[in-house]
Amino acid sequence: MSRHAARRIQAIHTHQHFKCDNLRAKPPTLPCHRRYSTFNFYQNRQLEQYANQDAKRLTLRQLVFFGRHLTEEKILKSANYVRTELPVRIAHRLRDLQALPYVVVTQEGVDKVYKLYWTAFDKFRHFPPINSLEENDKFCEFVSGLLDDHAVVIPNLSLGLSLSSPFLTPDKLDNFMRRMLVSRISRRVLAEHHIALSKTFRAKDTDKTGEPRVGIIYTALDVKRCIDRCSAILRDRPLWVHGNEDVKIDAWPEVVVEGHLDTKFAYIRDHFEYIMFELLKNAMTATVLKHPHGVPNLPPVRITISAGDDNIGLRISDQGGGLVSLSGPNHEPSDLVSFSHIRNASRLEDSRLGALRTASEEGLRATVQEQVSRWQKYSYYQPKNQEKQSEPEPPSAQIMNIVRSRIGIGLPMSNIYATYFGGSLELVSLDGWGTDVYLRLPKLGTNLEGIEL
Ligand code: COI
Repeated sequence: MSRHAARRIQAIHTHQHFKCDNLRAKPPTLPCHRRYSTFNFYQNRQLEQYANQDAKRLTLRQLVFFGRHLTEEKILKSANYVRTELPVRIAHRLRDLQALPYVVVTQEGVDKVYKLYWTAFDKFRHFPPINSLEENDKFCEFVSGLLDDHAVVIPNLSLGLSLSSPFLTPDKLDNFMRRMLVSRISRRVLAEHHIALSKTFRAKDTDKTGEPRVGIIYTALDVKRCIDRCSAILRDRPLWVHGNEDVKIDAWPEVVVEGHLDTKFAYIRDHFEYIMFELLKNAMTATVLKHPHGVPNLPPVRITISAGDDNIGLRISDQGGGLVSLSGPNHEPSDLVSFSHIRNASRLEDSRLGALRTASEEGLRATVQEQVSRWQKYSYYQPKNQEKQSEPEPPSAQIMNIVRSRIGIGLPMSNIYATYFGGSLELVSLDGWGTDVYLRLPKLGTNLEGIEL
């Protein structure tokens, strides 16, 4: 693209924004070092041929069937699928980023994500075909590096799009974020699944749980066991953060699990635990905050599991006062998963933006285990029944900010994880009393990934 054409695109986007925008927001003034080169941003030639291809979407069942009875040939086929499929999926999102109004493109965080994606796209494009297990080892190392580099994507994107909220309609913003986040999950699933299959084949697996698994998919995931694990992790935390305050927790509510307790289904454990952890954390925290300290019998959080023919259902009920204090009187509970400040005013709160800035540097770890190791590392989390080995290192202010931060990603991400393979997540608030959350996940694994082509 010529400089002239790039300038024209910039002019069009800027003009469009001021013409259509009814929110009367001023464009931000950027410091010199943060002015952007439209030439880099709209460089398209290489992108076109990838972005014009459709993603080859898969189902959980296909991923499991393929991963059973591995052979060298299958591993190489999987590697080359990931090698050629990921740049297509990244190219779609690069094109999505390019279609944003220019004023959004210039927000802090958005350029970082764009650069990460462009770099990954370029590296995948240039990675040669994989013809041996040794070449696959190198490929897995390369992909693992990218997975690490991209740990900062979500906080950066969330920061950039929160700052852009005054310039986008809520639907436009939320649809964009949804496409970005779903696509990211899909890429990480393919990458992590391939790495896990390769480790299994090379007998380098480190998973010691003994639960049946193909790649990253647990073929008989024990629902109650996951709930118990998440609740145990949460109950072991003596401190919780409310606003900027550390709240000492004397007692957490009991978690009562009822219904079809022996339910097992095939699912990605990290996705299921992410959702459960987030929902339980919200329910338990709301209960503690709603009821005065020292109350001996906090009302329990009740979880009901139902195993239907096609779906697994879960209801998480708490008596934490409902969602009205979070979503506000004129809002729907579903607004809590929105990234727009019009639907969810907390998106532009200084404390949240600050927390996002910090997390943008450090990166967010997606799995519960990763979150726990971080708490342990920074001694915020000390299991009650475990003796301290040595005096913990004092955590830096920056780290404490991350650990403390409520960056508002957990619920939107849970919603996206739930819907990725065709499930649903619904919040029902009984204002003043409590919240019921209904989670439905498909059991048969036959739904295609919910990514847009
Ligand atoms: C992401 O995490 O955003 C990715 O796209 C990961 C992929 C480059 C392996």
